[in-house]
Amino acid sequence: MIALRSAHNSIVFNTINNKLSIFHWGALLNEGELGSDVIAATTRAVSHSHWDQPTTADVMREHSKGFIGHPTLEGHRNGQAWSTHFELVSETHTTNSLQATLVDDHAKLSLVLTYTLTPDGVLTINADLTNSGDTGYVLNQYVHWLPLADQAAQVMDFTGRWSHERHPQRRDISYGLTTREEREGRTSHDYTIAQLAMTKNANFSSGEVWSMSVAFSGNSVHHVEKTQFGDQSIGAGELFLPGEIIIKPGESFTIAPVQASYSACGIDGISQNFHSTLRKRTHHPTNIRPRPLTLNVWEAVYFDHNSEKIKALADVAAEIGVERMVLDDGWFHLRRNDRAGLGDWVVDPTVWPNGFTEIIEYLNTRGIEFGLWFEGEMVQIDSDLYRAHPEWILHEGDRIPALQRNQLVLDITHPGAFDHVLGQVDHVLSSFNISYIKWDHNRILNDAGHLGQAAVHNQTLATYRLFDELKRRHPGLEIESCASGGARIDLGMIEHADRFWTSDNNDALERQTIQRWTSLVIPPEMLGTHIGPTRGHQTGKTTELSFRAINALFGHAGIEWDITETTAHEREILKSWAALYKEKRALLHSGRSVRIDYPDSHAFLYGVVAHDKSEALFAFMQHLMPSSNFSPKLRFTGLDASSQYRVRLITEVGAPRTLQVGNITWGEGVVLSGAALESVGLQPPTLAPENGILISLIKQ
Ligand code: DGJ
Repeated sequence: MIALRSAHNSIVFNTINNKLSIFHWGALLNEGELGSDVIAATTRAVSHSHWDQPTTADVMREHSKGFIGHPTLEGHRNGQAWSTHFELVSETHTTNSLQATLVDDHAKLSLVLTYTLTPDGVLTINADLTNSGDTGYVLNQYVHWLPLADQAAQVMDFTGRWSHERHPQRRDISYGLTTREEREGRTSHDYTIAQLAMTKNANFSSGEVWSMSVAFSGNSVHHVEKTQFGDQSIGAGELFLPGEIIIKPGESFTIAPVQASYSACGIDGISQNFHSTLRKRTHHPTNIRPRPLTLNVWEAVYFDHNSEKIKALADVAAEIGVERMVLDDGWFHLRRNDRAGLGDWVVDPTVWPNGFTEIIEYLNTRGIEFGLWFEGEMVQIDSDLYRAHPEWILHEGDRIPALQRNQLVLDITHPGAFDHVLGQVDHVLSSFNISYIKWDHNRILNDAGHLGQAAVHNQTLATYRLFDELKRRHPGLEIESCASGGARIDLGMIEHADRFWTSDNNDALERQTIQRWTSLVIPPEMLGTHIGPTRGHQTGKTTELSFRAINALFGHAGIEWDITETTAHEREILKSWAALYKEKRALLHSGRSVRIDYPDSHAFLYGVVAHDKSEALFAFMQHLMPSSNFSPKLRFTGLDASSQYRVRLITEVGAPRTLQVGNITWGEGVVLSGAALESVGLQPPTLAPENGILISLIKQ
């Protein structure tokens, strides 16, 4: 047996009888803990009405080996070679990776599978499939699978739509397949950022949890399967459209990877494994520089670009302490509304007669960087690009795909279209001092064909190439991935982008759920979290500034609000909030995310604890009317039980509205042990709905 181990989990492979199988994926089993008798102890007999020989699991789930559940690979050569039978021919491994070569001589296919486990417990599975035959091999599907232990009883995944991303749904695992498919050609608002399997009562801090996510930004499928034999497994992969992938003779195809993790200590354990792993990347944004406080002008001006208004916003931004200002949609050729312009990435002289030099200088002299919006994978019929090259759209036959937001998808798998976008964006970035771009993607891909063949896969790879090339040409360039808010947030894009626009919904109450679950695998410092206007543009609701400010603090903080309309009092709060963000961002962007299972489901309690447990910042956010007169006590986990902590209310975010006479008695500061904070807790004020408090805990 071959074991890969991390600090928190392990995966154990078996390589007998020319098969690669996974014997265990879950709890950490150290050297020597799997005795030689485990095989005998777990081998099954032959059951009635089943194969005459016992069958063993194999990573290649194939009919030819007696597996009758959902397969790993499906494909054919013009109707032939439709059933595969891969055999393990070689493997090499280290303590954290295993590479296996499997070959099917009859189907003339070979597969190189690589399993890599990070020290913090994230498993990546890569696969390369080679066609050694002399005809094209049509790959219909490839799903990476991992076994689930028998005690996994529930599945949790995430669903959503525009402005309502990542809402959890939890159900019992039942016989058959539980499947989530995404066919938008981009990741989707509805993408299940991870599919979780868990023990019955698993919560944030306890129970066993297994997760799997497709690390790719195109179409995807996630499954959990329980077969009639009682076997359970979790699988995921890219979803291919008919005929999309045809591997030519002698060529190889790289299958989109998946990333998986296991936690013995609840859902937060999965987050910690991903956050720690991602933060160790040298290109992780906080390893380069602290995340600047950002103002995006979209909700302040929409398409109404005017340099005087932008300067007025900059003046207030400078007073507050904003460090980056992003000019959103509306700056380029013909783009006075959403009906024209996409495809022509040249500054429109009617709105910016002297380009951006003057406004950038205006900002820079006030200590603010400049960022700019693009939507380079799109084109509109009313654009110079479309007039010159109507053939450069993803389409099928002579149909024009359905329009969404009056736009079509530019076929950047076409070298001419790719070079056009790269050239124009590169020119803008070379002409002005711009080190940050927000890259949008506001429509679903339908009928997404290139010269008669489905092209979502290649379009996705072209986007990655485009981002990488722009970064190569402009060292230090940061890219924010936005797709009508959070429709392109995934573990594939995370290697090409530096920030995600979490949602178009800036209503802080709505954002609570969206941010909680997007940060399941994405570290919060990569999630744009902005203070929206008093009256939310998406929900039309009015929300206290303190609630909005606390909500926006737990991420890459920013503002999305016409701050020229703020009152003097609001500006004072924004100023102290900005200073607080700058003071606490090192903690917020490096600590362990902790979500507490709070007894009243009408409120959230969550925070960030420094890895050395020296400091923590927690938010208590009352969503709906408190269920009782006195809210349950706040019991904090993740602290050092034997240390003393000074606990105080942070007032820099403004005051909440409460439903009580008088106030709590610990706000100015009390000293409590980590043990008391965990087992006894702190009495919170009874807050009115959509109000919150921020609590600082500092080790004495
Ligand atoms: C959708 C984005 O999510 C918004 O933030 C904004 O950039 C608009 N597109 C601009 O058209």
